[in-house]
Formats: sequence, C-alpha cells, structure tokens
Amino acid sequence: MSSTAAVNLHNPAVFQAGIPHEVFAEMRATPGLTWSPEHDGTRGFWSVTRYDDLVTVSRDMSTYSSGVGHIQIYDIDEDALEARASMIDMDPPVHTRLRRIISSAFTPRHVKKYKGAIQARVGACLDELEAAGGGNWVDVVAKPIPIGVICDLMGVPEQDHNYLIGLTDHLVAGTGAEPLEPTAYGNTTELRLLPFNSPAAWAMSQYATELADVRRAAPEDDLITKLIEAEIDGERLATEEFANFFRLMIFAGNETTRSSMAHLALYLEQFPDAFAAAQLDRSLIPALTDEVIRYSSAILYFRRTVTAPTELSGTALDVGDKVVMWYCSANFDEAYFPDPYAFRADRPTAPPHAAFGGGGAHFCLGASLARLEIAELISDVLNRDLSFASIGQPEFVESNFVNGIEHLEVTL
Ligand code: HEM
Repeated sequence: MSSTAAVNLHNPAVFQAGIPHEVFAEMRATPGLTWSPEHDGTRGFWSVTRYDDLVTVSRDMSTYSSGVGHIQIYDIDEDALEARASMIDMDPPVHTRLRRIISSAFTPRHVKKYKGAIQARVGACLDELEAAGGGNWVDVVAKPIPIGVICDLMGVPEQDHNYLIGLTDHLVAGTGAEPLEPTAYGNTTELRLLPFNSPAAWAMSQYATELADVRRAAPEDDLITKLIEAEIDGERLATEEFANFFRLMIFAGNETTRSSMAHLALYLEQFPDAFAAAQLDRSLIPALTDEVIRYSSAILYFRRTVTAPTELSGTALDVGDKVVMWYCSANFDEAYFPDPYAFRADRPTAPPHAAFGGGGAHFCLGASLARLEIAELISDVLNRDLSFASIGQPEFVESNFVNGIEHLEVTL
C-alpha cells in the first residue's frame, strides 16, 4: 500500500512560503507511505508524514539507520560521508559514546544555570529593538540570542559571534537551489566532501581547529575544552572529528532556535489571544513555548536509510530505501493534535510534539536549552508588553530542510 507524491518535496521552492500544510494533510490522509520518484539526479524516497510512523522510525535505529547513507534527501559518496561525519550521522554504539562526552551539559537541571546569561542576552536585544522603534526582528532578536548562547557554552569569544552567524547562514544556503562559490573563504576542499556542500563548512572547521589549539594551551571551563580533553576507548578526538562536532553544535544550537524565534514574531501578530492568555497567567509560558516550537517546526525533516526488509504503515520497504521523516507534518497530525492549525497557549504537552524528533537516540540534545531561550524571550516580550504597530511580509529561507525566516521587519 503506497501512493506517489503530487508535489516534489525535494524542491526548496515548495517551502518558499512556509510549510505547505495542504500537501502534507493530503499525504497524511492517504494510507501507506508516499513515494517521491527520482528527481534532479536524486534517487526516490519514501515520506513519513504521520506522527505514529515518525515515532516508529525514530526509535528503531537498527532498521532505520543514520549511519548508512545520508541524513538528508540527496545521496553523497562514501568518502564524503566519512569526511563530514558527526554524531548525528552515526548509529549506536559509536553515537552513544560521542554524545556522552557533552550530554551532561544539556540536562534540564544543568541548563537552568544559563538562565541569567540568557535573560541578559534577551534583554539586550529587546532593548535595542525598542530603542530603534523596531527593525528586522531576525537580525536584531532571533539571530543574536541563540548564537550568543551556544557560543558561550562552547567557549567562542564574543567578537567572533557575527563571523559564525555569517558562516551558518552560508551553510544553510547549501540546502537551497543556488550553487555556491567553491573557493569562498579560501576553501580548497571539494564541495561534495563538505556538509551542505558549502565552503562555509570548511571555514568553520578552520576556525574550530585554531580555537582548539588555543584551548590546548590554556584550558577553560567550556565545551571546547571538554571535547579536546575527552577520551573514547583511550583515544582523543582527531582534528576532523573535533571540527565536525564543533560544527554540529554551532549549527544545531543556532539555526534551529533562531527559526522558532523568528516565527514567534509572526505568531505575536497572528495569534494575539494566546499571548494575552499567557500575559494574564504566566504559568502558561512553558506550554506556549512548546506551541511556538511545534508550530514553527524549525527542522523540516531528517532522513534515515533502511538496513533490513521491513514494512511500515502497510508499505513494504527494502534495504537501501530512503525514509524521510517530515517533522513539520507529524506536528500537525490531526490524530494526535486536535485542531492542529489552532495556535494554543494551553495545548496539552502529551503527546509531545515531534519538533525535537520522535524519541530515540538522536532526540534533540539541546531541547531543554532551546525551550529555556524561547521561554525567556516570551517572558521578556510579555514583561515589556511589546506589540507591533506593523509587521512586514516574512522572507523565508529557501530550503526544504530548515523552516527559516531571513527578514521580518517590525515597527513597535
Ligand atoms: C527549536 C529549536 C530546536 C529544534 C526544533 C531542534 C530539532 C532537532 C531535531 C529534529 C533533531 C534530530 C532528532 C532525531 O533525529 O531524532 C535534533 C538533534 C540535535 N540537536 Fe536540536 N533542535 C533545536 C535546538 C537545539 C539546540 C539549542 C541545540 C544546542 C546544543 C541542539 C543540538 C542538537 C544536537 C547536537 C542534535 C544531534 C543529537 C544526536 O544526534 O544525538 N538543538 N534537533
């Protein structure tokens, strides 16, 4: 049992105006998985759009591998897979050993320690916006907060934050349709060997390697020092392993939370009742935070590759089949989220939304940190009673992987 997709989901232009909800609603309503045939030289793939199927795939890591094949829709060569690999493209037990190096820094209890620093960053950004009477919400608020927070944790000096923002923007550009300039930043590596086929990935590795040298000479209480001092089976991370880890953390900790924070401004305008309810009852802020995260579904999908013949939702799957989990669809699955397009401050937290993944070993490491950052932004917006006199049309990032907003002009 299966069907063929009516729309080419591999094409970033399909996401140009945000999540194509009607397309996914139709796919969810169709029994079995949906097949997207080969397109633009990319082998066909199966789409998982329903919540329960997504949870099944996320939790069965031996049948649905992150280490075999790529975690994005397009395939890459074996040597490229190896050169780019970080824990997100690995299966247990190797994945488990890598994740364990830093997982203690991201527990809900541990991230509470960052609350004061997060509040200071949020406050400074909103002060700037208020002083100017508005501006591009993405540049003034959504970009600087998450990059500032993840850089603080990693141990990246403040003066380099903007450089890293530029690099992560250029990384995401690699998921768009436009080809990138191969020699940008002085890159000498073939683009196919770099994450997102972007020269910015090379520049980030160079940066990480230099910073690691600085920390080897003078260790600090930060994650870079933790990574360079960690030993797995008696061995330290090789230079490339460290650089790939660093890049994953900067990208994952930054681009995702930024996208949800960018959408938050839209929701303030579109769904004022939800924010008014939280204004009156601050105990709603955690649920409202999760509603922002569900509704924005910052990461649109991740892919797995089938390692043994199996069946999902009545569709037979073969070894090597690509299975794409659309978080942005599962989060609106009417079977699990009643009235899914309603934006509610009091949506029940069970079942949990799938924006951080459907459970399993790769479940978002930074979920507690992202929640804290977004909750602090909501709190401060409510404290200031911030409201927009006008809000411009959002310019979406051209990508079928990240639900980002490039530009959103607001006037206070
Ligand atoms: C709204 C914000 C965020 C969203 C929507 C999000 C989403 C996701 C998703 C969907 C995954 C893959 C889950 C899976 O495959 O099962 C993931 C993994 C990951 N996330 Fe997040 N994320 C966010 C914020 C963050 C932050 C702030 C960090 C900071 C450290 C972070 C670090 C990571 C890492 C390191 C992984 C890979 C985990 C692994 O492979 O074990 N994320 N995230």
